[in-house]
Amino acid sequence: MNSETALAILLQNIKNNKDLGKTENRWILHSIYTGLAARRIAHELNLDEDYALTIGYLHDIGRIINHNNHPIEGYLYLDNLGYPDIARYSITHSFINNVIFNTAGGGPKDKDSYNFINNYLKSIELNIYDNIIQLCDLFCLESGFTTFEKRILDISTRKGIYDNSSEHFKNIMNLKNEIETMMGKEIYSLFKEIRKEDLDSINDDYEKLLKMFKTKEKTL
Ligand SMILES: [Fe+2]
Repeated sequence: MNSETALAILLQNIKNNKDLGKTENRWILHSIYTGLAARRIAHELNLDEDYALTIGYLHDIGRIINHNNHPIEGYLYLDNLGYPDIARYSITHSFINNVIFNTAGGGPKDKDSYNFINNYLKSIELNIYDNIIQLCDLFCLESGFTTFEKRILDISTRKGIYDNSSEHFKNIMNLKNEIETMMGKEIYSLFKEIRKEDLDSINDDYEKLLKMFKTKEKTL
């Protein structure tokens, strides 16, 4: 599949009079930015740019079926369409280092989902494209690019802090460092569109996050 087909699959799911600005379509804009970001990083790493764009566009496609269970639904949807290689990113994008607890919002809630995802993660080895989508998913909003600190602070404020949140954040930052070392430059240097106030508040946001994680630790 190329990125043109991927974009067509994505855009055929716009709801509510095809108005991308509507809340229920926010994930589609987020997916477009994720694809664009993935392509930019792939370019720096001399990887297949169109493939990166394709998988970025489709990583959240499971949301057409069910938001909470979107990793599994997306995997099944793309697998059924005959794209098992693209389907993998529906699952892997949510789990840093291939570990089921390294995810936002505490991880799969029911036993069947947990087992399905855990078995899948154990059956594969992560590749560089998995890592790129994992990262891009975490600094791409529906309104464009931001910092990891801003995005994780936003997720943590909306969804709360879980037992795994601190570890998840640490692993995201480690992955960011790894990719930056491979590129020989900072990720933010590739994304001049990030708002100055987001960049200026990186340290503040980071401190706020640490504080939230510490408060959680005390209650455990
Ligand atoms: Fe996403």
